[in-house]
Amino acid sequence: MKKKIVLLPGDGIGKEVINSAQAVLFAIADEFNHSFSFESHDIGGIAIDLHGTPLPDATVEACKKADAILLGAVGGPKWDNNPSHLRPERGLLGIRKALDLFANLRPIKGYKNLLHASPLKEEVVSGSDLLIVRELTGGLYFGTPSERRDAGQSAVDTLAYTRREIERIVDKGFQSAQKRRGHLTSVDKANVLESSKLWREIVEEKKVQYPDVTVVHSLVDSTAMKLITNPTQFDVIVTENMFGDILSDEASVLTGSLGMLPSASLREDGVGLYEPVHGSAPDIAGKGIANPIAMILSTAMMLRHSFGLDTEAILIEDAVQSVLDAGYHTEDLQINNSCLVDTAEMTKLIVDYIQSQDAAKCICDCYA
Ligand code: IPM
Ligand code: MN
Repeated sequence: MKKKIVLLPGDGIGKEVINSAQAVLFAIADEFNHSFSFESHDIGGIAIDLHGTPLPDATVEACKKADAILLGAVGGPKWDNNPSHLRPERGLLGIRKALDLFANLRPIKGYKNLLHASPLKEEVVSGSDLLIVRELTGGLYFGTPSERRDAGQSAVDTLAYTRREIERIVDKGFQSAQKRRGHLTSVDKANVLESSKLWREIVEEKKVQYPDVTVVHSLVDSTAMKLITNPTQFDVIVTENMFGDILSDEASVLTGSLGMLPSASLREDGVGLYEPVHGSAPDIAGKGIANPIAMILSTAMMLRHSFGLDTEAILIEDAVQSVLDAGYHTEDLQINNSCLVDTAEMTKLIVDYIQSQDAAKCICDCYA
């Protein structure tokens, strides 16, 4: 299979983890006789520095021609005080909108070996395996332009959704549940917000088309509580943009580290942008110690969702599992043993598994 991939390393550890993704893709291409071509473009802070805008036209044009896009991370303290049109985050929001990447999939799965790295009790997080389906191109993020009014004394953001925007993400939620354990939690704030009332009506209408899925409605505040008190009750959560942003960061603590979570942002035709949920981590950027797993698992999601390459995706996921089972971990996982590895070593371990399919063995046998 021949595919054109655009790389958007962005800022901070973005560049480091994108290198890991590429190393994994070279190994997959070799093993399965695929041909992946790569083209790198600027986005975020680096694009502001080099081109005066967080999202240069050349980046948008390249992404429009690509079969899939891998993004590292954007942002950093250097640009924190910039005016809003010159914030790195604008680049990310702009590319999501320009490509109509409305469906953001964020799987959250606890790995056995890492349960004790979670601040939550092991018996609470054990067995949690959920998928957040977040609407990504509407709501508060993209309302009628936000503004300061009354000489800066008040500010306005609008939360607007059309029926069509809600229908397509709700469909994605139901379809995702069909492929998993058949349970959908639709999250809203229908006791207060008009947009949530419309959301709930649409979920009620849609559920007759998916008789194999059980659906429950859950208010966002109580969902936030249930996510950390009883996370195993969830299979698929579907929700609007801002609620999904907040809940997915909260859910990340189930895995012990934000450094483990991949994501896919998809258009209706399957074109997608894949990025780790973690940010640019300026505190550790350039040190070579970032956890590349979220980026590598995002690459597996790309192979599955944009290219239909399930076997290849599963091989990458198995490689990650095997390396973690052997006890290897990067610094973010704060595990007290000696199998601590850096970004390059973690990447090599995963690549070695892809090439040999031999279970990874920990050199210090700390888990044996
Ligand atoms: C995310 C991030 C972004 C968002 C920021 C960087 C704009 O937090 O992908 O969750 O809020 O969507
Ligand atoms: Mn976020």
